[in-house]
Amino acid sequence: MMKQPSECSSALVRSGNRQFCSALLAGCLCFAVFGFGLSLTSVIAADGDIPAGLDKISYPKDNPPDEAKIHLGKQLYFDGRLSEDNKVSCASCHDPAKGWSNGDRFATGVGGQVGGRSAPTVINTAYQMFQFWDGRAGSLEEQALGPIQNPIEMNLTLEQVVAKLNKIPGYREQFQKVFGTDVTSDGIAKAIAAYERTVLSGNAPYDQFKAGDESALSPAAQRGMKLFTGKAHCTACHAGANLTDNAFHNVGIGMDRDDFDQGRAAISKLGGDTGSFKTPTIREIARTAPYMHDGSLKTLEDVVEHYNKGGIANTYLDEEIYELKLTDQEKADLVTFLKEGLSSKDYPMHKPPKLPE
Ligand code: HEC
Ligand code: HEC
Repeated sequence: MMKQPSECSSALVRSGNRQFCSALLAGCLCFAVFGFGLSLTSVIAADGDIPAGLDKISYPKDNPPDEAKIHLGKQLYFDGRLSEDNKVSCASCHDPAKGWSNGDRFATGVGGQVGGRSAPTVINTAYQMFQFWDGRAGSLEEQALGPIQNPIEMNLTLEQVVAKLNKIPGYREQFQKVFGTDVTSDGIAKAIAAYERTVLSGNAPYDQFKAGDESALSPAAQRGMKLFTGKAHCTACHAGANLTDNAFHNVGIGMDRDDFDQGRAAISKLGGDTGSFKTPTIREIARTAPYMHDGSLKTLEDVVEHYNKGGIANTYLDEEIYELKLTDQEKADLVTFLKEGLSSKDYPMHKPPKLPE
């Protein structure tokens, strides 16, 4: 399992306020330093399984996907019994019907407790080098046990959740079949992560247009796409197949508050990372309002207006964020591209499975 990518990421490299480079470079270095020992990846996805426009998935060597494991992970994902009050499942905050997020500004866990960050989508997390807004987890396996133990999310110790699930014969049987053991926390993490890696969105009108189908995007969306890569230079950060550089930036969100979120800096302990957050994918973005780590922007119109103004001024603002001087027509076109171009007709709308007893 990937260890502390966060710490090596920042200790090894600095490059002024270009957090973009530092995080990218650091990611590579981390991989070079730890990659072998951890035998992190093996690419085994058949091309046919991956929606058009997305890259192949690198599966961890010690957690290759198979059907039984994915099915087990899906049950765990939708099962409220992984929480203290039997009511909160992963799907409570990452709901397929709400863009695999929750439609609220913040997340509500057991006993109605509310956290301080918005729930990111689970879509395409298979491709992320870092999990969480501040990147404090590397792999999905590493991430999965976090919310179960988090006192304001699901609030069970690992011993508690393992004991609870071991009392459910349907889970015991499946764990035996998939992992050859009773329920273990390692198995829970692996099954959930294997399931999450099947939650993919690609083959959007944007991909079809890029592949040569000019009718895939309306004229307004085509103008918006030009702005996205050109005058509005969104692709400075939202680049590549998953529309993220997998790096951290301060884009001037929440920085007008005295108690603003330190973001990446709390993990890296580097002043230059203050107020920096992971660039999220923006595929299926029309479904996941409100936006940003603090859910402070309600609509995509608000997001475009935010970038157009050059963000909230602060010492740590990324140098790629500045006043864009878009006209009203250009702003509307950019929003049309985000809504129309990045929403796939193959949206992964999963239904809750039958849970074991
Ligand atoms: C109470 C709401 C809540 C529950 C329950 C919950 N999450 Fe989350 N999840 C969040 C929030 C909020 C974040 C972002 C926290 C942060 O960045 O500090 C998050 C982050 C994530 C991420 C990182 C995504 C990214 O792009 O960085 C993944 C993956 C994830 N959760 C999966 C799960 C899984 C799997 C479960 C069940 C075991 C689960 N979550 C349960 C609210 C929740
Ligand atoms: C300097 C890098 C950078 C640039 C340039 C950039 N973004 Fe972002 N984007 C980010 C980061 C980082 C976040 C998360 C910021 C936060 O929550 O504080 C983000 C968040 C978003 C979100 C919200 C996603 C969510 O799930 O809440 C949208 C939508 C978005 N950007 C669209 C755009 C558009 C459109 C442009 C061009 C006008 C753009 N971005 C330019 C880095 C960038």
